[in-house]
Amino acid sequence: MSLVALTSHHAQAMAALHKASFDSPWDEDTFKTFLNLPTYCSFGWVDEDLEIAGFLLFNVISPEIELCTICILPNFRRQGIARKLLQQTVKKFSDCEVCFLEVAENNTGAIALYSNIGFTNAGVRKNYYKRSDGRYENAVLMRLSLD
Ligand SMILES: CC(C)(COP(=O)(O)OP(=O)(O)OC[C@H]1O[C@@H](n2cnc3c(N)ncnc32)[C@H](O)[C@@H]1OP(=O)(O)O)[C@@H](O)C(=O)NCCC(=O)NCCS
Repeated sequence: MSLVALTSHHAQAMAALHKASFDSPWDEDTFKTFLNLPTYCSFGWVDEDLEIAGFLLFNVISPEIELCTICILPNFRRQGIARKLLQQTVKKFSDCEVCFLEVAENNTGAIALYSNIGFTNAGVRKNYYKRSDGRYENAVLMRLSLD
């Protein structure tokens, strides 16, 4: 499996993968819009058939990177793919100093992943997410120093 840069041509596959991972997924047009903007970039982890097992999307405004989303297909999880994706891609932005992300307070798997890589808690955003059933959920803001 290998790391590849994704473009708007991959938007359909990205939307399908997002749908398999989130309650309120982003659609193909949303990914196309992001990937046609100059500060957004995406990397995927692909298998030998070029199927995308997982991807992430960054907004890079030096000296800060924001991780906008990351997801791995369910049958590829717990194989270290998200960790490799994150660790290998943040290194590409040598002029950046810090990576930020927001994660739902109850997403314990993702919080474990980020903590495992070295992200630390940088605050809480109250009622940041509105769920399809009307509930609100806090986001945890996390940061990773890239120095
Ligand atoms: C969160 C997610 C991206 C993790 O991807 P992954 O490829 O399975 O993660 P990795 O295999 O690289 O995990 C690395 C480490 O993170 C932690 N971790 C990852 N998923 C975990 C889980 N579900 N529960 C507990 N710890 C977890 C573990 O410490 C793991 O190391 P270990 O397997 O040696 O114990 C994946 O579960 C996913 O796509 N979830 C749905 C989308 C999502 O929630 N994205 C994050 C939004 S902020």
